[in-house]
Amino acid sequence: MKFHVVTYGCQMNVRDSEAVSALLMRQGYERAEGEADAEIIVVNTCSVRGKAEAKALGKLGLLVADSRRNHPDRVIGVMGCMVQRLGAELFKKVPGLGFGVGTHAFSRLPLVLQEVFEGKMPVLDVAEDDAPEALTGHIEGALSAFVNILLGCDRRCTYCIVPYVRGREWSRPVDRVVDEVRELTTKGVCEVTLLGQSVMNYGRRNEVWPEGSTSPGGYETPFPRLLEAVDAIEGLERVRFTSGHPSGCTTELTRAMAELPSVCEHLHLPLQSGSDPILEQMRRGYTADQFRQAARALQAAVPGVALSTDIIVGFPGETAEDFERTRAFMDEIGFDNAFIFKYSPRSGTPAAEWPDDVPDEEKMRRNKVLLEDQTRRVEAINAALVGQRVNVLVEGPSLRNAARWSGRTRTNKVVVFDPVPGVERGGCVDVDVERVTATTLYGTIEGSRLNI
Ligand code: SAH
Ligand code: SF4
Ligand code: F3S
Repeated sequence: MKFHVVTYGCQMNVRDSEAVSALLMRQGYERAEGEADAEIIVVNTCSVRGKAEAKALGKLGLLVADSRRNHPDRVIGVMGCMVQRLGAELFKKVPGLGFGVGTHAFSRLPLVLQEVFEGKMPVLDVAEDDAPEALTGHIEGALSAFVNILLGCDRRCTYCIVPYVRGREWSRPVDRVVDEVRELTTKGVCEVTLLGQSVMNYGRRNEVWPEGSTSPGGYETPFPRLLEAVDAIEGLERVRFTSGHPSGCTTELTRAMAELPSVCEHLHLPLQSGSDPILEQMRRGYTADQFRQAARALQAAVPGVALSTDIIVGFPGETAEDFERTRAFMDEIGFDNAFIFKYSPRSGTPAAEWPDDVPDEEKMRRNKVLLEDQTRRVEAINAALVGQRVNVLVEGPSLRNAARWSGRTRTNKVVVFDPVPGVERGGCVDVDVERVTATTLYGTIEGSRLNI
C-alpha cells in the first residue's frame, strides 16, 4: 500500500516526516511518487502561527474533497503539532479525516492505520509519554540529515505554543545519538544538524551520559560534550545544531565551536526583539546586552562565524521605538540571515491574553522594513567574500541550471560553480568566490582555471 507525507513547519517536522516514512516502510508500506498515486496521505502540521494552521487546514479540506470525488478508498490523516493542540476538534473542522496522531504518538501510527482499516475512522492518538524516545530511521540517499537530540521545550516564551504541543524537555542519551549519527555516516550522510528547540539545554533535565564517562577535551557541560562525541565520528564532515540561546553560549560552547573541526562556523540564534521591555514581556530570559555579549563571544572565538536569527514584529505593546531598537541591534550584530514573523496570538499562551495592539498594516510595514534591511546587510556581508576561498560541500547540479553545480559553505551559504572532473556529490572542494548576490555566491573551483 502506498503512502505520501506532506510536511509543514520546522526542521523538527521534516525530521518527523522522515522518521514516520521510514517506519511505514519497515512495516511494508511503499512510498508513493506523490499525492496522485498515494492510498494514504498524511499531512504533518505546524501550530506556531495562525497562518501555518490555516494552510494545513486548507490543504486537508482540498485533499478530503478530492478523495471523496476521485479516490473513495484513499485515507487522509494528520500528524504533528496541530493534532496535539486541537485533538478531536480537528475532526470537526475537517470532516472526513481518517486519523490524527499527536507529537508523542508517531511510533504508534501503524497501529492507528490498522484501526482505520478495521473501519474505526476517525482514530485519534494524542497520548503523552513521560520519556519519549525519538523515533529513528532515515531515508536513504541524502547527504545531510537531521538528528533529534532534545525533544520538547521548557522555556515557555509567552507567545509560543511549542511547549504546549511538544511537551516537556527530554534529552536523548548520548549513546543513542552517537549510534544514530554513526549509522547515518555508513549510509553516505556527511553532514548532520542536531535538533532541539533550545538545543543548548541538552542534558539539563535528564542524565544523558553513562556513569564514569569522561571527555577527552575536558568539556564539562553536556552539550559541548555531545558535540565532542559527534565530532569524533569518522566520515562525518560537518556538524550543525539549532536553535541556540544566548544562555548556552558559554566559554565551553565557544571553545567547542572553535576547536572541533567538523562543527561549522554557523549558528541560528533567535533574537526575537532588540528591545529590553519586549524581551522581558516575551520572557526570553536575556537582555539585548546579554545577547550582544553572547554574539561577541562567538564572533571572537570563531572567526567568520555566520549568525542567523528569528524576529517577531508587532508583539503586544511593541512601539515604533522598540522596533527601531530591534532594527539598529540587528545591524550591530550583523546577522547573515533573518526570518521575520508577524506576531500571531496563540490561544492558551500568556501573550494571547494581552491586546494584540499593533495593527496588521503596521506589522506588515515592520516586516518589510526588516526584510529590506536584511537584504542590504547580507549583500554587504557577501560582497566582502569576493576574492576569498570557501570550502564547499558539493550537492550536485544546481536547481536553476543543471550545467552548473551547487553546494554550501560551512557558514551555510549557497555556492554555484562549474564542475570539474573528479568533483562529486558529497565531496568537499575549495571555491574562489568571484561574484555574489544576497542569496548566492558564484565562483570557480580552486586551480581549475589553470586547466582550461
Ligand atoms: N525554539 C526556537 C523557535 C521555534 S518556533 C527558538 O526559540 O529559537 C520558530 C520561530 O517562530 C520563533 O523563533 C519565533 O520567531 C516564531 N514564533 C513563535 N511563536 C510565534 C507567534 N506566536 N507569532 C509569531 N511568530 C512566532
Ligand atoms: Fe517556543 Fe521559546 Fe521554546 Fe523556542 S524557546 S520553542 S520560542 S518556548
Ligand atoms: Fe515546529 Fe511548528 Fe511544531 S515550529 S515544533 S512544527 S508548532
